Amino acid sequence: MSEDNIQSTLHETRHFPPSAEFLKTSLLSADKVTDLYASAERDNEDFWADQARIEIDWHTPFTTTLDSSNAPFYHWFPDGKLNVSYNCLDRQLEKNADKVAIIFEGDAGDVQQITYRELHTRVCVFANALKAQNISKGDRVIIYMPMIAEAVIAMQACVRIGAIHSVVFGGFSASSLKDRIEDTQAKIVITADGGNRGGRVIELKATTDSALEQGCDSIESVIVFKRTGHDIAMQSGRDIWWSDAISDQSSVCEPEWMNATDPLFLLYTSGSTGKPKGIQHSTGGYLLNAITTMRWVFDIQDSDVFWCTADVGWITGHTYVAYGPLATGATIVIFEGVPTYPDAGRFWAMCERHGVTIFYTAPTAIRALIKQGDDFPNNHDLSKLRLLGTVGEPINPEAWMWYHKVIGKEHCPIVDTWWQTETGAHMIAPIPSVTTTTPGSCTRALPGIDAAVVNEQGEEITHANEGGYLVMRQPWPSMIQTIWGDDQRYQDTYWSMFDGKYYLAGDSARRDEEGFFWIMGRIDDVLNVSGHRLGTMEIESALAANPLVAEAAVVGKPHDIKGESIFAYVVLKGDRPENGIDDELTQILRAWVGEQIGAIAKPDEIRYADNLPKTRSGKIMRRLLRTIAKGEEITSDTSTLENESILPQLQGKA
Ligand code: WT7
Repeated sequence: MSEDNIQSTLHETRHFPPSAEFLKTSLLSADKVTDLYASAERDNEDFWADQARIEIDWHTPFTTTLDSSNAPFYHWFPDGKLNVSYNCLDRQLEKNADKVAIIFEGDAGDVQQITYRELHTRVCVFANALKAQNISKGDRVIIYMPMIAEAVIAMQACVRIGAIHSVVFGGFSASSLKDRIEDTQAKIVITADGGNRGGRVIELKATTDSALEQGCDSIESVIVFKRTGHDIAMQSGRDIWWSDAISDQSSVCEPEWMNATDPLFLLYTSGSTGKPKGIQHSTGGYLLNAITTMRWVFDIQDSDVFWCTADVGWITGHTYVAYGPLATGATIVIFEGVPTYPDAGRFWAMCERHGVTIFYTAPTAIRALIKQGDDFPNNHDLSKLRLLGTVGEPINPEAWMWYHKVIGKEHCPIVDTWWQTETGAHMIAPIPSVTTTTPGSCTRALPGIDAAVVNEQGEEITHANEGGYLVMRQPWPSMIQTIWGDDQRYQDTYWSMFDGKYYLAGDSARRDEEGFFWIMGRIDDVLNVSGHRLGTMEIESALAANPLVAEAAVVGKPHDIKGESIFAYVVLKGDRPENGIDDELTQILRAWVGEQIGAIAKPDEIRYADNLPKTRSGKIMRRLLRTIAKGEEITSDTSTLENESILPQLQGKA
């Protein structure tokens, strides 16, 4: 672990018990929560078996709770059969058919409401359309859509027929899309002509075309939803409009009864090597924790209007848009646009317009909106809000306090939820009716989750505030099943450090005097930019793939709004530009990385040098590069550097 991770100077003493106002209507009593923890403590497996019987409608009940015989490939509820779409939609029809499931608001302000009955029908029709395109159980389906209701309909339709979806965030480039199509060997892409974001059109179909031109031989067809109506090319024999695909389809579609351990979806995320990992989730275990966390952390109730602002391209948009809320019969808000369009009051205007009661977003969005001033939220009626949440990175106490005061009017608890693409659902988070929160801490592990902070030897750190590795000591239902097509990498990445005993989260953390968890940062070469995970290696390989570039090193630099910004050191094949500055080339390389990965991965700054700082064994000294990026004085010993004379260039002083 690098030194940067261990610094822990922050000492937060403010405490916020649940407000009386929240407690008036909250569901979970202190006794109930004590019971949950106690029964999980007594027998973890029995605890989850009980929860699974309460929360899921099984087609065939399971008789085995957990099969650990092939650990670390843990199989929950292995002989149970169920369908996730049935649990999200069909079972709501009895009581909630006319309840609004989705309130959709487009970028331009257009609003649609979809009831559970309509959603069920539309999902069944689209599921039949997929079958008509030759998609069946186990096939992979790529979804590359704007943030519109049809994205959720497409996801639900896949899981209804047992097809495995992999949603690719609409901001990813053709090349990232191609990599994911090829890794999954998908048969079909579901996309749209485009999406609307901040008054601009996102070219989804054109990008899909360009991905398919680069290979992707497994693709047989492309379904295109008409969203923007702008001109796009349709390739006959391959591309079909969504409206044509559904035109003759029946609204009856019997769900495919899946084994609890069948893959539900794949979602790609960055790791410390250049190649993104296809995180594979299960059907039964995943659904269970999506539901339990909706209840425990979000206190979800029939009257709630739940808005998680994440795109379905990220895990947050899977668990807390497409699955958890629908499986608990909630009304959700889906928003196509961006928080600052037409102005920085958009989120708050939407909270008012749709009567949002629970609002869940990322610290980076909160920080960006703070900068716009308090008038934006103050001009809107936020009185329906009762609970706020954050996810993606540690929230800085100033942002927490602003969220608490200006948005939550000091009565909405804030749930700071720690989890990962791999964990599937919240792991460490407050239970808002019982937890006294403190700004910056995600507080305690949820019932049935055995999180700990350990040292290099795997021994639990008992000393308050001492940093270590965040691990899970027990399997949990919504855990990652494997990395698609790469069981070895799954074992190496998550289980090898502690000999298969503990799941390694990849974060460093500490626990305070009360035992509350504080996340300190990543232990690997992974950046957290605006709550999104980006591997430094991935950006480095993208840079190095440019014909002008010989070598590149990428580090994170603290950033006010984004958390971290991307700082790249580049060695060119040709001469270094004068004084190490070349704005034109920098723009070219930024655009290049945008094409290789997507706009979120574009370096914010590029500095050119004749060489990178390496040890005599050839290892790039990233810690040094981080110090330099921050503009800090170099205090560490640089005498082990092979080429000390390179330092002034890296610092931008030569
Ligand atoms: C990494 C996972 C889970 C959805 C969003 C990101 C960081 C996440 C928190 C939090 C501190 C957090 C961790 C984690 N992270 N939530 N509440 N406090 N850090 O998903 O892309 O899989 O990234 O995000 O570093 O390992 P992801």
